[in-house]
Amino acid sequence: MGVRRKGILLAGGSGIRLGPLTSVTCKQLLPVYDRPMVYYPLSTLMQAGIQDILLISSPEYLPQFQKLLGDGSQWGIALSYCEQASPDGIAQAFLLGEKFIGDTPVALALGDNIFYSSELSQLLQNASAVTGKATVFGYRVANPSAFGILEMDAAGTVTSIEEKPQNPKSHWAVPGLYFYDADVVQIAKNICPSPRGELEITDVNRAYLDQGRLTVAFLDASTAWFDSGTADALLETSMFVKAVEERIGQKISCPEEIALSMGYMDRTQFRAACEKVAKSSYGRSLLMLLEDA
Ligand code: G1P
Repeated sequence: MGVRRKGILLAGGSGIRLGPLTSVTCKQLLPVYDRPMVYYPLSTLMQAGIQDILLISSPEYLPQFQKLLGDGSQWGIALSYCEQASPDGIAQAFLLGEKFIGDTPVALALGDNIFYSSELSQLLQNASAVTGKATVFGYRVANPSAFGILEMDAAGTVTSIEEKPQNPKSHWAVPGLYFYDADVVQIAKNICPSPRGELEITDVNRAYLDQGRLTVAFLDASTAWFDSGTADALLETSMFVKAVEERIGQKISCPEEIALSMGYMDRTQFRAACEKVAKSSYGRSLLMLLEDA
């Protein structure tokens, strides 16, 4: 087995599109159904087999994430924290995380991106196993001007990526979950701020594309992807999670559940983690997993 991939969870940004909800807290701490939003991208990284995770947020809210998530040992993972003094773009995560990354491959999850598929764990572990390259995903969206968008030629080969294009070349967006080799730090150091003054993740991805080292894995509608950055999206995501959980009678995308299914903790540790929240419906439905098994 190669070097274990690390993960960065970026939970920064101004949350301006969610005001007044974000007047006194940050977006990634807002509820999505019955848990804080940050639980979902954390679960995504855990599902990819990643157990060493750096969470980056503003100095104002970092202590709240620390209080919420601790050192991760309750879920069999290691969490560390880093301040992003000013939100200068997604790719800044690699400059802030340089020491943490060292020479290991790394995945970056955006704190407001929520994925669900029954095959997700396998899909992510496949992406994580790729070495010496970058892997991003492609997902068809109705509103391409809001995302990083892929351009493809007639043969379906990706030829370019543009950030929030006014005239999108396709409907295929790049979601906020990216897998890189350790070169990403150097690549991030070499990009310049965009006209909106940010170090764009799209420029990092374009650099990999130009080097012939970008793999795009296209996801179909069997995977659900939400960017919960607006009030409507928050509500839709909450309703989606509630509907799936009620349908299958089981919780999805919870750190406790993923830690148990990935073998990061045993049943005794799982019970201890759940008992901390046993008085809520979240905790009670997690405990039902033990009855199933
Ligand atoms: C960011 C990225 C964009 C990506 C999107 C996914 O945009 O810049 O390339 O498609 O996340 O959620 P943001 O929503 O942070 O403006």
